[in-house]
Amino acid sequence: MPTRNRFAELHPDITGWRRHLHQHPELLYDVEETAAFVVDRLKAFGVEDITTGIGRTGVVAAIKGKTDTKGRVIGLRADMDALPITEATGLDYASTVRGKMHACGHDGHTSILLGAAQYLVETRNFDGTVVLIFQPAEEGGAGGKAMCDDGLMERWGIEEVYGLHNMPGLPVGAFATRPGPLLASSDEFEIVVTGKGGHAAAPHAAIDTTLVASQIVVSLHSIVSRNIDPIHRVVLTVGTFETDSTASNVIAHAARLQGTVRTLDPSCRDLAKERVYRVAEDTASAFGARAEVTWVPGYPVTVNTPEETAHALEAARAVSATVIENVDPILPSEDFAYMLEQRPGAYIFLGNGDTAMCHHPQYMFDDDAIPAGCSWFAELVERRMPAQ
Ligand code: NI
Repeated sequence: MPTRNRFAELHPDITGWRRHLHQHPELLYDVEETAAFVVDRLKAFGVEDITTGIGRTGVVAAIKGKTDTKGRVIGLRADMDALPITEATGLDYASTVRGKMHACGHDGHTSILLGAAQYLVETRNFDGTVVLIFQPAEEGGAGGKAMCDDGLMERWGIEEVYGLHNMPGLPVGAFATRPGPLLASSDEFEIVVTGKGGHAAAPHAAIDTTLVASQIVVSLHSIVSRNIDPIHRVVLTVGTFETDSTASNVIAHAARLQGTVRTLDPSCRDLAKERVYRVAEDTASAFGARAEVTWVPGYPVTVNTPEETAHALEAARAVSATVIENVDPILPSEDFAYMLEQRPGAYIFLGNGDTAMCHHPQYMFDDDAIPAGCSWFAELVERRMPAQ
């Protein structure tokens, strides 16, 4: 089950790019230096068709195969942004920017896609066009959506799209995915409850906002247990609860709750939203108080299409001895979901071995996973668009 020999040769170079990016993390859409690095590398490989500024700071590059008899186009995507975390790995190539760290391995993803690009330019052993998608702002900024809104799929005629993410806890170089929902949607809500403040000794003259908000929290938890079909997975968490009272003898006038709803089922997402509004507003009303709900939609459910998942797994089996075909979905979210809403495709986990979890200050991307990741991209392209 070999990775491509060429990637063994390129491994030191790709590791060097990865560590350079690791030392210079950038956040959200402010990935100018990273994008410039990507463009420089692509130019050095001989990629001519490079477009910057898609989704503000995203980079899109097209590589033509030796032939193009059917007009086939495949998109391969990597994310470029880091996290607002202060690194605590002690690595000699640790982040040089305090408070910013590649703690999710996007430096690895970007370098892997660059490595695949170098190979694809050198060999062009396919019939059609590969579109490389380097996106900003995966970590909460919806950079993938911004690129789609800029016409990514239509402008480059992308027919199917693939992406990967490293996964701590999975053996280095192993792959895991599943057809259907793989990662959850993630929406946030804020509920501002307004009662009537007053003296703690005269509750009858007040409307106790703390009590009302507490009832709302309890009632919100009935949504998952009483409204959602038990075969579906939904999690609702109220993460913050604050009131404007700062004294034990004062009844609060206002309270603010913040929470999140995550699910693997788009229909549950709509139902949960409707119920959060209803439960908050009507519970408050029952006490003579008022609740104002603000809903902040986040990333959709990441849904792999069955046929493309089969292709992704086939390519994985060709380059790795360890491939998990029906991995359990997990509840983080991922803005590759927006690309999968527009085109068929698949997202796959690439084993990162036994490290701290993503988003942890001691997380470390394992450079030994690079050849497998590059080989998977190359294999996919050559299998989906075989040379004529
Ligand atoms: Ni990530």
